[in-house]
Amino acid sequence: MAQFRLPKNSRITEGKHFPAPADAGRVRRFRIYRYDPDSGRNPRMDTYDVDLDRCGPMVLDALIKIKDEIDPTLTFRRSCREGICGSCAMNIGGGNALACTRAIEDVDGEVNIYPLPHMHVVKDLVPDLTQFYAQYAAVEPWMKTASATPPDRERLQSVEEREKLDGLYECILCACCSTSCPSYWWNDRYLGPAALLQAYRWIADSRDEGTGERLDALQDPYKLYRCHTIMNCTNTCPKDLNPARAIGEIRKLMIERR
Ligand code: SF4
Ligand code: SF4
Ligand code: FES
Repeated sequence: MAQFRLPKNSRITEGKHFPAPADAGRVRRFRIYRYDPDSGRNPRMDTYDVDLDRCGPMVLDALIKIKDEIDPTLTFRRSCREGICGSCAMNIGGGNALACTRAIEDVDGEVNIYPLPHMHVVKDLVPDLTQFYAQYAAVEPWMKTASATPPDRERLQSVEEREKLDGLYECILCACCSTSCPSYWWNDRYLGPAALLQAYRWIADSRDEGTGERLDALQDPYKLYRCHTIMNCTNTCPKDLNPARAIGEIRKLMIERR
């Protein structure tokens, strides 16, 4: 059987160990991916033993404690700490999640933390999202209209029309879904579930008049049709959205307009 190994300079080595203080009560071990492409050194896994009696309940609380009190060189993104900004997305305990909404006690065993999979790493837990945002921009995520704007009011929707956006507008662009999708890993021309969910968010909007051109832009063997309904995206979304369903809805519209 063929065996595959990462190139020598990509193999993850064992890093430093930071033990808990002697008087620590409830100790939990965090194993965290560390990588600085500018250093020329291999990535490594550092181990931090954290006293949970002196730490908040979420994985992000532990990361902040490690950075503040144990190792200031640890690099990660975060902002809102309440599941709204999407910046703390990372791979925790084998699945993509938001560090601020993933409770430490919900992770079994040692808490292994890596950056989002299959992305270039800027440093430690910070992935390069340049392409992800370019894919988002490619679906032109704004309202397109051809008709004249009503002079005396906004463009209105019925309650039923507005409800069609539920499950779509809540996306926080965290990239958990796209970076869990094998098709996205292997096809850089596939837009991925996050961008496609955003595309459908505008297609489903009764006020938008650009559906035809939006579908034309997606009529391409790679941008849309690389989805093989593996469902990782829907299973991983920390906002409980269903990008696979949105992709299915776009495909249905493609068939209906033939
Ligand atoms: S669909 Fe979910 S997982 Fe994907 S970017 Fe939006 S919030 Fe994140
Ligand atoms: S359902 Fe489609 S988009 Fe979602 S993980 Fe599978 S292949 Fe990727
Ligand atoms: S810090 Fe904003 S989503 Fe986690």
